Amino acid sequence: MPRDTSAIQAPPFVWGAATSAYQVEGAVAEDGRAASIWDSFCRVPGAIADGSNGDVACDHYHRLTADLDLMRELRLQAYRFSVAWSRVQPSGAGAVNSRGLDFYDRLVDGLLARGIAPYLTLYHWDLPQALQDRGGWTARDTALRFADYADIVGHRLGDRVASIATHNEPWVVSILGHQSGVHAPGVKDRRHAMQVSHHLLLSHGLALQALRSCGARSELGIVLNASPVVAATDRAEDTAAAQLEDGLLVRWYLDALLHGRYPSDVLAHLGTDAPVVRERDHEIIRAGLDFIGLNYYTRRVASAASSPPAQSLAVTGMGWEVDPEGLTELLLRLHRDYPMPPIIVTENGAAYRDALDNGRVHDVQRTDYIRRHIEATERAMGQGVDVRGFFVWSLMDNFEWTWGYRQRFGIVHVDFATQRRTLKDSARWYRDFIGAHQNKFRSP
Ligand code: FCB
Repeated sequence: MPRDTSAIQAPPFVWGAATSAYQVEGAVAEDGRAASIWDSFCRVPGAIADGSNGDVACDHYHRLTADLDLMRELRLQAYRFSVAWSRVQPSGAGAVNSRGLDFYDRLVDGLLARGIAPYLTLYHWDLPQALQDRGGWTARDTALRFADYADIVGHRLGDRVASIATHNEPWVVSILGHQSGVHAPGVKDRRHAMQVSHHLLLSHGLALQALRSCGARSELGIVLNASPVVAATDRAEDTAAAQLEDGLLVRWYLDALLHGRYPSDVLAHLGTDAPVVRERDHEIIRAGLDFIGLNYYTRRVASAASSPPAQSLAVTGMGWEVDPEGLTELLLRLHRDYPMPPIIVTENGAAYRDALDNGRVHDVQRTDYIRRHIEATERAMGQGVDVRGFFVWSLMDNFEWTWGYRQRFGIVHVDFATQRRTLKDSARWYRDFIGAHQNKFRSP
């Protein structure tokens, strides 16, 4: 049967919502899926605030059709999801598990049938445990394995997905996973963390080569978490701390991706903790990007003092400051400082304490948060920044990593005891907003 490829061309600007595999799918032992590092990490006593895990999560794997219908009801133009590597290649290398790929095939076709563009992320933190047992991202070989995995996914889905991002937030994988150890795999070693960041970037470049040569028709890119970093005071030591934090969070990745080098001030600061880089690596990393995805939630305040700087803005349920102006500022700064490809705001949203009240959730603060960040994006676009989409995090409440189910980011409420989905007021607002603005940024 000929496939519907009409949605392969991403429209010039999309309004969407996002999730990731481990946070929503559940079905962790089904159809040949093997364990990932998050399955293992959730078993470490004390690692997850409520002692939970993603074994069931939103049970999205089994509720795919109903969830696709929900996306259509919300009039989403695009849906961003991730593929679980350990479903597709249970041991992270070699044999392909076609039943795992079949799930994503059904997901992609289900989206296209509903007129929703599929935006795929290859890696949203769930490394196959078998690869971790062989050194994980500290091992250079994992970057080569990732390129093989990209090739497998590209062959199977690259004819139908509008967009493929290699990694989601490599800074988080590197620093939270390998320096502070609060994320899987729970390593606490800065030298390892920096080597991991290099291998993630290398794997990105190798994956792009693989995707281009397997003929994927999707736009190819990477998703970064970025924030403006402001100094807590104008004292020289705080300004220097802000400069360094910006270097580690923003410039480390963008300098490598767009200029083919790491920032010299950060390398000097790292000293012997700087990663081992082979001769052609930077050339591979600096592969042409069709887009860069930015996940934006809050600004960062840097201080040389060991105690965290005082917050001066209103905060969300995560304790993150609400700073929409920071998004405008970030977009303008990147546009000014780098030869940026088109940008997609691949995540933005907020956790708040929600109350389900007679089938309604009156989440005024979440709606307000999303609306203000959309306006902030539009302000940057008005000043010349090329933005191609905005994705709310998240389509539905889900497993929020170390917080377990204690933080709800969804615009759709999930009752985890019954798996019942209820549109929050923010979802109703977003649905109506999309209805009114769907052609806003399309060329005449
Ligand atoms: C981002 C992650 C996403 C979710 C949001 C709240 O850093 O990409 O999975 O946890 O934060």
